[in-house]
Amino acid sequence: MELDAVHDQARARLPRGVYDYYAGGTEAEVTLGESVTSWQRWRLRPRMLRDVSAVSMTTTLLGTPVSMPIGVAPWALQRMAHPDGEAGTARGAAAAGTLMTVSTTATVSLAEVATASAGPKWFQLYRVKDPEYTDDLVRQAAEAGYRALVMTVDLPFLGRRLRDLVNEFQLPQGIEMANHPPKQAYGERGLNQALGTIATATWTFEDVTRFAALTSMPLVVKGVLRGDDAQRCLDAGASAVWVSTHGGRQVDPAIASAIALPEIVDAVGPDVEVYADGGVRRGSDVLTALALGARAVFVGRPTIWGLAAGGADGVRDVLTELAAALELTMALCGVSDVHDVPADLVVRA
Ligand SMILES: Cc1cc2nc3c(=O)[nH]c(=O)nc-3n(C[C@H](O)[C@H](O)[C@H](O)COP(=O)(O)O)c2cc1C
Repeated sequence: MELDAVHDQARARLPRGVYDYYAGGTEAEVTLGESVTSWQRWRLRPRMLRDVSAVSMTTTLLGTPVSMPIGVAPWALQRMAHPDGEAGTARGAAAAGTLMTVSTTATVSLAEVATASAGPKWFQLYRVKDPEYTDDLVRQAAEAGYRALVMTVDLPFLGRRLRDLVNEFQLPQGIEMANHPPKQAYGERGLNQALGTIATATWTFEDVTRFAALTSMPLVVKGVLRGDDAQRCLDAGASAVWVSTHGGRQVDPAIASAIALPEIVDAVGPDVEVYADGGVRRGSDVLTALALGARAVFVGRPTIWGLAAGGADGVRDVLTELAAALELTMALCGVSDVHDVPADLVVRA
């Protein structure tokens, strides 16, 4: 099914407050909108007369084999979308042959998500309660077989999400953050109070070094939008960087990933894996990101709508649809392997 139709189905199913929480951004939502449109600020320069009868999309992300250069971004509170929550997304991603990043704010514990699906998983870290508890989560993730630690650094405080404030959105009854200590106070269950508990205002580059040393999982820093920051993350011990505006949910108006990506690839050089997310909705968006030097892209909202509309199958279908669109766009552009996307395949519109 077309991704837009899946989105429509999800919107029809979800309560208004939940839909707005998932769909919304911060402040005037400039970055939210530009995340989608900025991929189209690039134009493809297709090559003809190449043999594209077979197109290969398989790759590795920090050594983990995946069927496509498209992974599932971490997103919070998935049982609000579907009763299976993160377990459903994990099964859907595995069925599509790719990896899922599980958020600290998951509503299914990271051990239970691991049990639900043997597919490859990364663990996304925020601060929970205190440093000791947070460190313990990192250890739990490694024990449960997660393959990388994704440190999200763009949430020193929660951005101002006006839709949630207007809706006075509360965590629905029965929805709990499963990786949080039992009975951690959530104030009035107002979403902003609940999520405020995970903010990382004290984190600095020294924490990148500390977490890299704490675990044998490779460390990815997510939320980087500048070349100098990307280089400092690597110097501090990160293995890879993930270009992201948090789906337009933190700084607004922040530079969109499609515009920031070339500077970051340039700063870190060709040997470091760089990922990008934000507004990736079409095969051409993925191919543009690869031409700009990304190893892979991640998608958030398309998988939210997939889970809400159809559970694990819905997530699988969204991912396979995007992969099919990438495959066709590659073939039409004379590219037969995701590792062989020339930089001159794109030009600024
Ligand atoms: C509802 C929602 C919740 C999110 N929760 C998290 C989170 O818990 N941790 C995190 O690192 N990023 C989180 N993100 C950001 C996503 O990982 C990702 O950067 C973003 O969704 C990509 O943009 P897209 O939704 O346009 O694909 C969230 C995004 C959304 C939409």
